[in-house]
Amino acid sequence: MVCGQVLKIWLITVIRSEDGFFVSEFEKDILCIGAGYVGGPTMAMIAFKCPQYKVTVVDINENRISRWNSGNLPIYEPGLDEIVEAARGRNLFFSADIKGGIRRADIIFVSVNTPTKTFGAGAGMAADLQYWERTAREIRECSDSPKIIVEKSTLPVRTALAMEKILTAENNGINFDVLSNPEFLAEGSAIKDLEDPDRVLVGSRETPAGLKARDQLVEIYANWVPKDRILTTNIWSSELSKLVSNAFLAQRISSINSISALCEKTDADVTEVSRAVGMDSRVGHKFLNASVGFGGSCFKKDILNLVYLCRHYGLEEVADYWDGVLRINDYQKRRFILEMLAAMFNTLAGKRICMFGFAFKANTGDTRESPAIGIAGRLLEERAELVISDPKALENARADLKGIPGKVSYEEDPYAAASGCDAVAVMTEWDVYRELDYSAIFRSMSKPAYIFDGRNILDHKRLHEIGFNVFPIGKVALTHF
Ligand code: UDX
Ligand code: ADP
Repeated sequence: MVCGQVLKIWLITVIRSEDGFFVSEFEKDILCIGAGYVGGPTMAMIAFKCPQYKVTVVDINENRISRWNSGNLPIYEPGLDEIVEAARGRNLFFSADIKGGIRRADIIFVSVNTPTKTFGAGAGMAADLQYWERTAREIRECSDSPKIIVEKSTLPVRTALAMEKILTAENNGINFDVLSNPEFLAEGSAIKDLEDPDRVLVGSRETPAGLKARDQLVEIYANWVPKDRILTTNIWSSELSKLVSNAFLAQRISSINSISALCEKTDADVTEVSRAVGMDSRVGHKFLNASVGFGGSCFKKDILNLVYLCRHYGLEEVADYWDGVLRINDYQKRRFILEMLAAMFNTLAGKRICMFGFAFKANTGDTRESPAIGIAGRLLEERAELVISDPKALENARADLKGIPGKVSYEEDPYAAASGCDAVAVMTEWDVYRELDYSAIFRSMSKPAYIFDGRNILDHKRLHEIGFNVFPIGKVALTHF
């Protein structure tokens, strides 16, 4: 180091390939297995921030890989296209060559899906680890040099131990260090969350080798994340923290949703209650918006996982406590349907209902566990006709409702979607729904016209003045009857 100048040492590494040797101009070769909602954006950000590393993302789904290599990425996320565009082909690569990727990598992030098990022991509760275990075996079989394996997928606590056992089962002398580095990004704000995270969590074994591996991972994030936001813990705390973080967030939503039911009975206004409660700095105001229920691929799955873990250890009271968060969420969705039925003279048969939004939240096309799926199913059972509208999620909505009997049509334009309908049900808090010309919508609808605002995003007083019968969440309904 001369005159305080930092000399960047660009390592030239020689890597053995099947057909000989080649020179890599990159400092590290990073691989991510699983090109989904977590793996894709996370690796795009690492590559974007760290041009000195080669980042490859592989997946068994070749169609997904070709979309990552195209102008039409497989997921919608604000800001994602720009960073993929900047790094792809420079130091970010998407490939279906999983074996080759494993062989070349120094660090492997495992970001495959771990859905809730649908069969056998723990069905409906425990995580289905078949994809994850297949990946662990594949890593072992294709490795001929030491590697750091990073758990990115949310996994049950102590999965790292199972991962270590699988990796070392053949005793082939190759060293694997397993780290836990859970992802806290939220969809719709993933790029912001990755660029400026509240914290990055890295869990490791507290052995010299474990700590050395941990430092290597910390070094990657330290390229753009301040060191005081990179938290290091033991590996089990890291695994558990991910489940608990999501459980706490979901618990806040169920708490305010449970109160929304009480508000409707007592003429209190849930938005006012939430504001008053959230202004206490010990509580905080975020994640206190009453809604038709939370969705997304993580909250339900992670709480089920937590509940399963507690029952496994005989902690029945603890399990019941967290299970209550899910029960309130189901109750909230049921309440919404019952309110629609009661408001529309207890029959929905033949009535046209327009759903504004199908994604589980705004700014994503993802519909996994979206409350809209169950609500659409129930409305169809009541023989309502559905018109589904969403700016980004219609492709997924079609797949979710495929095979469910009943009349469903899909229309991106909200005006066309609502025209001729008896009711509009707001399912997703897309900004576009706040700014529509509701007078024009009212004129185009059947009368009496209803709005069920499952997200409390609309100006209810104004809608009532226009002529709508308005049913918010946790507030007095404004009707003309
Ligand atoms: C969540 C966590 O926030 C994230 O840290 C973790 O990595 C993955 O799981 P995500 O599922 O993408 O992220 O979305 P999130 O913003 O947490 O919303 C989850 C659900 O809760 C959505 O359906 C959302 O609409 C709902 N929600 C959120 C409410 O109903 N009310 C609120 O106040 C906040
Ligand atoms: P998440 O939201 O956790 O990222 P996704 O379902 O979006 O979950 O992505 C997980 C990805 O992992 C999918 O694209 C899936 O095809 C991929 N995947 C699952 N098993 C394997 C495997 N054995 N090898 C490579 N990719 C896998």
